[in-house]
Amino acid sequence: SQRTLVLLKPDAVARGLVGEIIGRIERKAGWAVTALELRTLDRVTLETHYAEHVGRPFYEPLLDFMASGPSVVMVVEGERVIEGLRVLAGPTDPIVASPGSIRGDYGTIVRENLIHASDSEESAERELKIFFP
Ligand code: GTP
Ligand code: MG
Repeated sequence: SQRTLVLLKPDAVARGLVGEIIGRIERKAGWAVTALELRTLDRVTLETHYAEHVGRPFYEPLLDFMASGPSVVMVVEGERVIEGLRVLAGPTDPIVASPGSIRGDYGTIVRENLIHASDSEESAERELKIFFP
C-alpha cells in the first residue's frame, strides 16, 4: 500500500472543518491516518514544500497564507491513497471542484482550498521527508 502527505491548511483549522475532513478520509475503506500533528508551518518548510512554485505570482501570498495559523499535518496510508486523496480533495480551484469533493463542498477561493495531498509517488516520498524527517 501507499503513504501520502496530507495538510489540512490554516483555513480548514480556522473554520472548524478538521473533523469533517478527517472523517471523510477515515471512512474510506482500507485507509488509515498513521501520523497526525497540529503544527504552524515555518517559512523554510513551506519554501521547500512549494519549491516548484517559486516565482509564480501566487507564491508569496500562498506562503503567507500557509504560515498564517496552524495546519494539521498527517500521513495517510492505504490502497492507492495518493490518487484517491487527490480525488477526495477535488481540483485546485474550488469553483470547478465537484460537489462531494472536499474543495467542491467547502472551498472558497483558489489560495484557501483547505487541503493539500501529494500529487504523485515521487511527491509523496519527497514531502513525507520534509514534514516527518
Ligand atoms: P496543493 O495540494 O496545495 O499542492 O494544491 P494543488 O496540487 O491542487 O495545486 P498546486 O500544487 O498547483 O498549487 C499549490 C497551491 O497554490 C494551491 O493549492 C493553491 O493554494 C495555490 N495556487 C495554485 N494555483 C494558484 C493560482 O492560480 N492562484 C492562486 N491564488 N493560488 C494558486
Ligand atoms: Mg500541489
